[in-house]
Amino acid sequence: MKQRRPLIAGNWKMNGSLVTNAVLLSELQSGIKNLSASAADCDVAVCVPAPYLAQVQVALQTSSIAWGAQDVSAQAGGAYTGEMSVSMLKDFSCAYAIVGHSERRVYHAESDALVAEKTLRLLEAGITPIVCVGETLQERKAGLTEATVARQLNAVLSVLDAAALAKIVVAYEPVWAIGTGITATPEMAQQVHAFLRSQLALMNAELAEQVQILYGGSMKPDNAVALLAMKDIDGGLIGGAALKSIDFLGIIAAAI
Ligand code: G3P
Repeated sequence: MKQRRPLIAGNWKMNGSLVTNAVLLSELQSGIKNLSASAADCDVAVCVPAPYLAQVQVALQTSSIAWGAQDVSAQAGGAYTGEMSVSMLKDFSCAYAIVGHSERRVYHAESDALVAEKTLRLLEAGITPIVCVGETLQERKAGLTEATVARQLNAVLSVLDAAALAKIVVAYEPVWAIGTGITATPEMAQQVHAFLRSQLALMNAELAEQVQILYGGSMKPDNAVALLAMKDIDGGLIGGAALKSIDFLGIIAAAI
């Protein structure tokens, strides 16, 4: 029995429509009800960081599925075109928000310092940050995996107090596995997850054991069992497989 509650988060990225979302959200809710009915201990947390916050808030408000955002502004409000503040996420009852996703670090030049600021804003608002770290293929080939994820994680930890460890989620997403169908082996992922936990433990060993560390990068129903069996893999941050209810439910089932 793992000591940390598994968390499966479905990052829809910039996908969906009001019509297709309604079908997906309905299928997810009925599927999770069926899983809960069939599995004695179905204590898996599920969340959906989606671009359609108004729709998911209404659709999921009476379900066990939480929802959230895929980014947040470091600013409280004002002349920041295109951004959403934590207070806006609170208006939509977001429980989670992804920060530091590699697609934002690359496409929007998000720095480690900015990711740390965004994490602080979310914690101040009582929203759980899912802090993403991960190396590129070049960094892995150069033997810089641990140096890279340590730099990214410690930039966030440097602005937090130890108690905050109880309120964050970390996601290890090797950039070379995102959207490629090339998944890290369970052993590769476990090695980095254990390293991340050792970095967290430098801040507070007891709380480090409580932090959910998710794996993201081509997790699918057919590889989820082996990945989730690893000691320090506490769930998944799912992209493509989150867009099909049968696949997302298959990964949730693997976490039970
Ligand atoms: O945030 C999760 C995402 O980056 C993983 O994407 O399609 O490889 O599951 P995918």
